[in-house]
Amino acid sequence: MHTRTKRSFGYQWLRYRVSDNEENRQHFYRRTGTQPSTLPGQLFFEAGCGMGRYLKVIGEQPGAEVVGLDLSLAVNRARAENRSNPRVHLIQGNILELPLRPECFDHVYSIGVLHHTPSTEEAFKSIVKLVKPGGRVSIWVYHLWGPPGQRGFKALHARLRGRVSDTLRLLTTRLPHPVLHYLCYVAAPLGWIQMRIRKLPAPLRLLLLPLTLLPVSPHPEWRVRLCDTFDWYSPRYQWKHSVEEAAGWFEDAGLADISTTGFAVSVRGRKPAPDEQSEGHPGDCPDPDPQILHFPREAAQAWGAVDRSSDQLIGDVGVHGNPIYRVPGVEPGIERGRKRILNAFGCDADDDRPSTDQ
Ligand SMILES: C[S@@+](CC[C@H](N)C(=O)[O-])C[C@H]1O[C@@H](n2cnc3c(N)ncnc32)[C@H](O)[C@@H]1O
Repeated sequence: MHTRTKRSFGYQWLRYRVSDNEENRQHFYRRTGTQPSTLPGQLFFEAGCGMGRYLKVIGEQPGAEVVGLDLSLAVNRARAENRSNPRVHLIQGNILELPLRPECFDHVYSIGVLHHTPSTEEAFKSIVKLVKPGGRVSIWVYHLWGPPGQRGFKALHARLRGRVSDTLRLLTTRLPHPVLHYLCYVAAPLGWIQMRIRKLPAPLRLLLLPLTLLPVSPHPEWRVRLCDTFDWYSPRYQWKHSVEEAAGWFEDAGLADISTTGFAVSVRGRKPAPDEQSEGHPGDCPDPDPQILHFPREAAQAWGAVDRSSDQLIGDVGVHGNPIYRVPGVEPGIERGRKRILNAFGCDADDDRPSTDQ
């Protein structure tokens, strides 16, 4: 069920080396509703960390700690990006079968991920369990075609683009990744052309309408356009939601202070603390449990990152201090592919032997 998703994102994040630290910071702080000053002392969990760009933003703040989990070999790149930082921890595993104990994290977030699982709502329910009482949850998922409340020609145009995209995806989600990569390469300039067309007067825009019906990333940097276009057409699952629907998941989970401001669909909320009614301190997260900040082995065990059947720490491979905890069976081909991938990221593959005595 997850094979295409895993391979697709593994291919994407190991192939496209795109990342702009300043842009990443802006996205992270906006979508999680946090500020650099609020991060120290907090333990974060990122569901679907990809190549680890947001882990890096958290890792920059002294005292802030983060666990990133991803299904794909993108975790190898996340490690390479964050390997000098002992406060960034990685797990290769599935959001729908989290190998972690509930209620351990101060802030659980997921940016552009839950809609790529078989069920966005089930994935949300799974990650909400991880947040401590008083802690926060932030998600960003794809919106239905067209911005909220849009009417008239613009709404019709958005729906048409949706039809074109959905029809094309019937094919593109089945193509071999290198083939799709080259198709996206050819399509990427169209994103730039579409941006120009948007600035033209209405009659010209109408004339050039056919050129605007194929969704292609409009990012100003062409490598990011290529990566984002691949990201759009390759993954098997790509659900879209309304703001109301996503806010409903937060309500059903009993979260408070629900906010839906920002680029749709962006939702943030807080798990009420048990004594909140009497105390009333919205925003005060409990102090991090000192026990779980002793990484790697002690912390991983405290989080429950163990193979449940044998109660052993799940296979970890350490490169310069950042181990990846792989849920057994999640990456059966890892032994074969590891050396090549690590070399690709400039890691010393010989340092990457499974360790038993760390
Ligand atoms: C579009 S990327 C976003 C990555 C990261 N949040 C970012 O914005 O840079 C989606 C990520 O979700 C991961 N993913 C998809 N389904 C998953 C699942 N069931 N469990 C864990 N990760 C998953 C993919 O492997 C991929 O790296």
